[in-house]
Amino acid sequence: MICSMVGGPGPSRLETDRPATPHDRISTTINQQGQKEEMDQDLTTGVEEIDQEHALELQIVRSIQTALATEDREQLGELLQQLEDFTNAHFLGEQLLMRLHAYPGYEAHQEEHDKLMVELKELSERLLSQESPDPAQEAQNLERWLITHIQSEDQVLAEFLKRREVKG
Ligand SMILES: [Fe+2]
Ligand SMILES: [Fe+2]
Repeated sequence: MICSMVGGPGPSRLETDRPATPHDRISTTINQQGQKEEMDQDLTTGVEEIDQEHALELQIVRSIQTALATEDREQLGELLQQLEDFTNAHFLGEQLLMRLHAYPGYEAHQEEHDKLMVELKELSERLLSQESPDPAQEAQNLERWLITHIQSEDQVLAEFLKRREVKG
């Protein structure tokens, strides 16, 4: 795990309907008309450690959605903290890899991580203080920004790392 390189903690306990895998596919999303539609989004980047961590992140997000739906506030609090800790460690791990390999897109990628952490903290506060007008929609948005980041910045980083590996 790349988190282990920076001493990041991994979530110790997860309660989900099913385990996520590196080849996980998110099947449901909302289209522009606001209707649910099936999507076939492959979220793998091809860098195993990164993919494993993304699968775990998405697993926690899915558990948060379940905790919101079942109104399990204790579980929700635990999961939000796990997501914050794990995402922070994951981002630090990616940033360490970027520095180690002199990645040219480091600054822009780090800025994106910083923004996402701020958004995550704010969302967490809104959900815990029950100030969110639409918790389910917010959880959906959280999942969407995570997927968007994986499919854009992380995908570009993974391609760079794979090219470095081939060249040795
Ligand atoms: Fe990233
Ligand atoms: Fe990532």
